[in-house]
Amino acid sequence: MSSPFTPARIDGPATGEVAIEAVDLVKRFGDFTAVDTVSFTVPRGSVLGLLGPNGAGKTTIVRMMTTLSPPTSGSARIAGYDVATEPEMVRRSMGLTGQAATVDEILTGRENIRMIGGLYGIGRRELARRSDQLLEQFSLADAGNKQVKSYSGGMRRRLDLAVSLLAAPPVLFLDEPTTGLDPRSRSELWDVLRSLVAEGTTLLLTTQYLEEADQLADKIVVIDKGRVIAHGTPLQLKEQAGAASLVLTVSDAGDIPEAEALLRKTGGEVFVDHGARRLTSPANGLGDLTRVVSWFDESGIAIDDLGLARPSLDDVFLSLTGHKAEDDASTDEEKSA
Ligand SMILES: Nc1ncnc2c1ncn2[C@@H]1O[C@H](COP(=O)(O)OP(=O)(O)OP(=O)(O)O)[C@@H](O)[C@H]1O
Ligand SMILES: [Mg+2]
Repeated sequence: MSSPFTPARIDGPATGEVAIEAVDLVKRFGDFTAVDTVSFTVPRGSVLGLLGPNGAGKTTIVRMMTTLSPPTSGSARIAGYDVATEPEMVRRSMGLTGQAATVDEILTGRENIRMIGGLYGIGRRELARRSDQLLEQFSLADAGNKQVKSYSGGMRRRLDLAVSLLAAPPVLFLDEPTTGLDPRSRSELWDVLRSLVAEGTTLLLTTQYLEEADQLADKIVVIDKGRVIAHGTPLQLKEQAGAASLVLTVSDAGDIPEAEALLRKTGGEVFVDHGARRLTSPANGLGDLTRVVSWFDESGIAIDDLGLARPSLDDVFLSLTGHKAEDDASTDEEKSA
């Protein structure tokens, strides 16, 4: 049987062991290298956040690690099993929630869970018990008998996650689990994930949000254009990105050059978003903010908004690469080159 729907009755590796390991993973699509020599390890019972902007290569990495796409070169092991030579055992050891919802629209939440449970070979009684438990755990008890097409985005993501947990896999891959969710659904999902990890699940999640990785991950690997550009604890990365950034919006686009020159006096690099008339630079706390306020007072430049923003993925990228995360113009150039 090579279907991914096989019963997971496999124990993960012993405590302290590596649950997920990537060694020099490479994926090429024609001339384009989507993933370039990526390596990392995830100890059992911990959470790794793969952080990167659109097109960084996150989904491609997850697909290689979950046996859905063969690496061009390099290797990966899940729960001790090699994805290339032991794909069946890898599938039995892991759950995957992909970037797009995979549940059936026509079926109810409960029917979706039962259908997949049936494919896993879980007995009827056990399945009824597990369905109730999962619907309850994911706050879908009331919605369980409604068709999925009536569900909100957050409910779909939760159902997706419930389905991927049916077999209680020791290792779970989540590809952008909260993209598109409102802040409340997002924090509810974070709570669910925290409790899974507390019960011993090893988690690899991809995200575009530094805050999400910060909330959930023990270690973060930052991916840009297929390469690992940084890795460390959330604290280490945030320190690298600066404590916060100054974000300033000028009223008149004509003032941007002068505003940029003023902001440069803080000593940091200044990023200008011309369309939004917004300038961003690293800030060293309130001291920088108050100095900037007084410079702008003296200059007479009219400001719509000025404040300190928490470090974001953009700030991490600015400090690591000198370019903004969503600035992937060079990627397109490289691709067409
Ligand atoms: N099957 C494919 N054929 C050609 N190029 C591909 C294929 N799959 C992905 N790519 C390219 O590889 C790069 C990485 O894509 P990937 O989907 O892994 O990024 P991502 O980090 O998951 O982005 P997002 O945050 O938008 O989901 C992109 O430039 C993408 O266009
Ligand atoms: Mg993706």
